[in-house]
Amino acid sequence: MSIENEQKELHDKIMKLTTEYYELVHKKKEFVPGTTKVAYSGRVFDDEELRYGVDSVLQYWLTAGPYAFEFELTMRKYFASRDCLIVNSGSSANLVMISTLCSPNVRDHLKPGDEVITPAVTFPTTLTPIVQNGLVPVFVDCKPGEYNIDVTEIEAAISEKTRCIFMPHTVGIPDNMDVIMDVAKRHKLWVLEDGCDALGATWGGKLCGTFGDMSSISFYPAHHITMGEGGMVVINSAKVKKTALSIRDWGRDCWCDPGKSNTCNQRFDWQLGDLPYGYDHKYIYSNLGYNLKVTDIQAALGCAQFKKLPAFIEARRNNADFYLKNLKQFEEHMILPQIHEKANPSWFGFPITLKDHVDRLKFIQWLEDVNIETRLVFGGNILKQPGFQHIPRRVHKELTGTDTIMNQTLFIGVYPGLTKPMLEFVIERMDQFFKTQM
Ligand SMILES: Cc1ncc(COP(=O)(O)O)c(C=O)c1O
Repeated sequence: MSIENEQKELHDKIMKLTTEYYELVHKKKEFVPGTTKVAYSGRVFDDEELRYGVDSVLQYWLTAGPYAFEFELTMRKYFASRDCLIVNSGSSANLVMISTLCSPNVRDHLKPGDEVITPAVTFPTTLTPIVQNGLVPVFVDCKPGEYNIDVTEIEAAISEKTRCIFMPHTVGIPDNMDVIMDVAKRHKLWVLEDGCDALGATWGGKLCGTFGDMSSISFYPAHHITMGEGGMVVINSAKVKKTALSIRDWGRDCWCDPGKSNTCNQRFDWQLGDLPYGYDHKYIYSNLGYNLKVTDIQAALGCAQFKKLPAFIEARRNNADFYLKNLKQFEEHMILPQIHEKANPSWFGFPITLKDHVDRLKFIQWLEDVNIETRLVFGGNILKQPGFQHIPRRVHKELTGTDTIMNQTLFIGVYPGLTKPMLEFVIERMDQFFKTQM
């Protein structure tokens, strides 16, 4: 037998064994109410993800390689974007976006002291790169029920220093992109979307992540699809494409893929900066960059997960619809999500804001006591967080809605791993709370 045939036979055998292993070890267990965790989220996978991962290890490419390119291409087609850059987290995607806008290589780039409008209810690493780059965040309030930036206040929050709007589609609920894009266009502002929670969400039938100059995605296990740790920068603006790649890849000027050496065909013909003519292009740095790349093993998992994305989004929507319908009976105690008619969320979780007469801590404990997991909407009022209390900022008006979200909001899971009996158990448990604990 030839080496190729022998290799193929062995490869097939390993794949078959991997499937057997999955069946034995990872197959779903029965739901026991009160004992089995009703998780807020989690990875959902089958033998296919394991086979892709094992295949990638057997290839032993290690750094970004064939699977990484396939995943970037797949995402580029999905978003119909100019480019997609795979990175090692959603936080890194946010860092690439802001650092790119601050690069002197980008026309109309941001400078220290420039302002970025952003909601006060946010994820820490949506905000951190703004501060780290010497920009000044301008905080706008968020409304319970909507959870996103109050778009009616964005225009009033603009000053002559404002250059950018950067907002997450929080827990998968789309921001009002009509208002945001209109204000941005009239005031010539950059728009960055943090789409980490919202893969597949649409506004007016158009995918979130395709409106702004760039957007970010997270592939952390709690998110719609996962590669363990991972993220993507979706690039819609031609002005930033080359710089974003450079920022991700050490700040280098060269755009060769790993393992390639002379993509530009003039590797020893450049003269940039004060370097001598012919200095190897692979070692020319035109930006202050990072190394935010992934391994090909992570990307392999992403490729396998992407095939399941439509089914995952549908399951999340069905679970959220179940809660929207079945939690209506408790509306005297809680505010349910209020979704704009042009928005179709791709739910990360299902947010509930308890009315003032309900003790949130007691409610959370009541659910957690029977293994129903809850989470808060990330940083709440981020300015009350110990690490963010003293950051430079401008606050536009009162953050009343934001404080209510910090004090009274929680979210529960809608991820595809939940079953109907689990969802019914959550409703039953809440019903008991309102009947016996109030
Ligand atoms: C809105 C938002 N942005 C950014 C992130 C960060 O993503 P990652 O955990 O992949 O760094 C998260 C994580 O949950 C998020 O919810």
